[in-house]
Amino acid sequence: MSSYDVIVIGSGPGGYVCAIRCAQLGLKTACVEGRETLGGTCLNIGCIPSKALLHASHQLHEAEHNFAKMGLKGKSPSVDWKQMLAYKDDVIGQNTKGIEFLFKKNKIDWLKGWGSIPEKGKVKVGDEVHEAKHIIIASGSEPSSLPGIEIDQKVVVDSEGALSLPKVPKKMVVIGAGVIGLELGSVYSRLGSEVQVIEFLDHITPGMDAEVSRQFQRLLTKQGLGFTLGAAVQKVEATKTKAKVTYKLRKDDSEATVDADVVLVATGRKPYTDGLGLDALGVKMSDRGQIEVDGQYRTSVDGILAIGDAIKGPMLAHKAEDEGMAAAEVVAGKHGHVNYGVIPGVIYTHPEVSTVGETEETLKDAGRAYKVGKFSFMGNGRAKANFAGDGFVKILADKETDRILGAHIIGPMAGDLIHEVCVAMEFGASAEDLALTCHAHPTYSEAVREAALACGDGPIHS
Ligand code: NAI
Repeated sequence: MSSYDVIVIGSGPGGYVCAIRCAQLGLKTACVEGRETLGGTCLNIGCIPSKALLHASHQLHEAEHNFAKMGLKGKSPSVDWKQMLAYKDDVIGQNTKGIEFLFKKNKIDWLKGWGSIPEKGKVKVGDEVHEAKHIIIASGSEPSSLPGIEIDQKVVVDSEGALSLPKVPKKMVVIGAGVIGLELGSVYSRLGSEVQVIEFLDHITPGMDAEVSRQFQRLLTKQGLGFTLGAAVQKVEATKTKAKVTYKLRKDDSEATVDADVVLVATGRKPYTDGLGLDALGVKMSDRGQIEVDGQYRTSVDGILAIGDAIKGPMLAHKAEDEGMAAAEVVAGKHGHVNYGVIPGVIYTHPEVSTVGETEETLKDAGRAYKVGKFSFMGNGRAKANFAGDGFVKILADKETDRILGAHIIGPMAGDLIHEVCVAMEFGASAEDLALTCHAHPTYSEAVREAALACGDGPIHS
């Protein structure tokens, strides 16, 4: 039996970051992981592989649509799907090996196998029981399908199966216009699939600023994705090679069916806590299956903490990472803290979409007076040069104080641009503070400054 200060269960972005921070703070640390490689869903079957496929398919899109305009002529590249999957797997390998290296560097023991907590202060992995002063659960989440739909990972797939299809399907139906549905739907659409997205709500991307969501749908439609909104999927009947999806339109209860070669079910994720033994320990859970924690990530059982997708809040890798660092600081006797008001969200389609803080809708609901500063990428020189003029930056600021309350960007590099607004928000900045900051020319970031200027006396280039 080995004895540790901390055992982290799960090596996704929440768990591995937590383990590294624990080790950096001088705690003897181990991390339990049952997969063959470290990194959890994000590195193995989520964020990283999907970004590889998004990158590759975007390059194809550029070659097909923009190369000739720039005087780059010649045969357009064709898709070697096997090679694209090999590239994706190589990217996964580089990243997961990187975590293994960081574990070694920080002297973190990888306890290989699936862990459970037989009693307070103990973690069982395989036949071995280890002791830990603190146990931090970072067991993540798993796809949550719809009742009656069986995922076979061949014809009816979830996000994992969609990353390793044997071939690019002719017709793909995506159930759910959330982040996963739109990112992976974009990949296959660019690779030549006919993609139809069926969404329960009357709009795509639930929770997103409505104006951005509408513009996003317009741009995706222009790229060839089809949308059926206000439609509740009832069932999916699959054979070995085909599937039939039945949905009901909410406006009139009429039923319709659509055939597909592959159906991607992207209707959300749920916390994954199976096999940990939390019931027997009496760990309090919410009715949505999340582990309940206090402001310091402590569960109802002494010495057991939890972070990431297994607790409440947005299921985002970076939210889990921040909680991982904060929980490490808590067990080290410091003051871990996460500012939940400034957690960015990014959709890595083309154009990218990013968001932080309040939306117009949440501000209206709260009855808060606000002003909007907007700037289109059409007025940004760099964007025009790069065929990236679609989209805009929108900054929401308090009407009285000018303090930045939120920002929403659809356009080139939106996922990176959002962070200057995040930093500004962390410092309690006003829109004027951003507007007064010199931004290099020509950069996409000038559009952020112009949106900040639009909160005051007006942008220059519109
Ligand atoms: P989601 O919650 O973003 O979207 C699911 C969609 O499915 C919703 O729009 C919902 O209305 C719809 N839906 C549910 N039942 C339906 C039905 N019967 N018929 C039609 N539509 C139905 O979930 P998603 O996309 O599966 O993602 C899961 C989680 O993973 C999210 O929390 C997301 O933030 C996270 N994620 C984040 C990424 C990123 O940050 N880029 C990438 C991938 C996932």
